[in-house]
Amino acid sequence: MTKKKIFAISGGTRTNSSNLSLIKAIEKLTADQLTFHIFNDLAALPHFNPDLNSDEIDIVKNFRKQISESDGVLICTPEYAHGVPGSLKNAIDWTVGTAEFSQKPTVLITASTDGEFGHQALLETLRVIEAKNIDELNLLIQFIRSKVNISNEIIDEQLKTDLNKLMFNFIKIL
Ligand SMILES: Cc1cc2nc3c(=O)[nH]c(=O)nc-3n(C[C@H](O)[C@H](O)[C@H](O)COP(=O)(O)O)c2cc1C
Repeated sequence: MTKKKIFAISGGTRTNSSNLSLIKAIEKLTADQLTFHIFNDLAALPHFNPDLNSDEIDIVKNFRKQISESDGVLICTPEYAHGVPGSLKNAIDWTVGTAEFSQKPTVLITASTDGEFGHQALLETLRVIEAKNIDELNLLIQFIRSKVNISNEIIDEQLKTDLNKLMFNFIKIL
């Protein structure tokens, strides 16, 4: 069976981001069914401005293309100051006019200390840009730093169960 292609975005841009570790842990969990491409250029995207001609900005074109060519998207992000990290919201804003997320199977995981506000805000954004099944394919993980380590291992049994269930439901619609 051909593996489905997942485009993964970490809203945490730190070198030792727990959200990046979580993506890598999920990649391992699903390695027999999915291949991952992890986006490395989140912080390098220019600030969104509708006046800019995005057809002339390679990094933006590549970002959109990678979403379009994937079978599904996985977003893992922390919450910053009760909101969505600016660099992640900026990236998503680049897709609003061109609708790459419309009907794209998408998983949203907010993995933070608390995360409730940022999770709801990003969930609403993904709803309005029509990410497929987003109301089923989302998970809020609190106290993330005690649940995944820097070796990309999930060290919380309940989280392993929750992730297996979430990814099973994701893979079903790919
Ligand atoms: C500027 C800043 C603001 C933060 N604000 C919040 C917040 O509002 N809610 C929360 O749950 N965690 C907050 N945190 C803590 C993050 O959840 C925590 O640092 C998390 O590990 C960041 O994700 P990362 O490991 O992927 O970088 C904040 C961290 C930073 C650096």
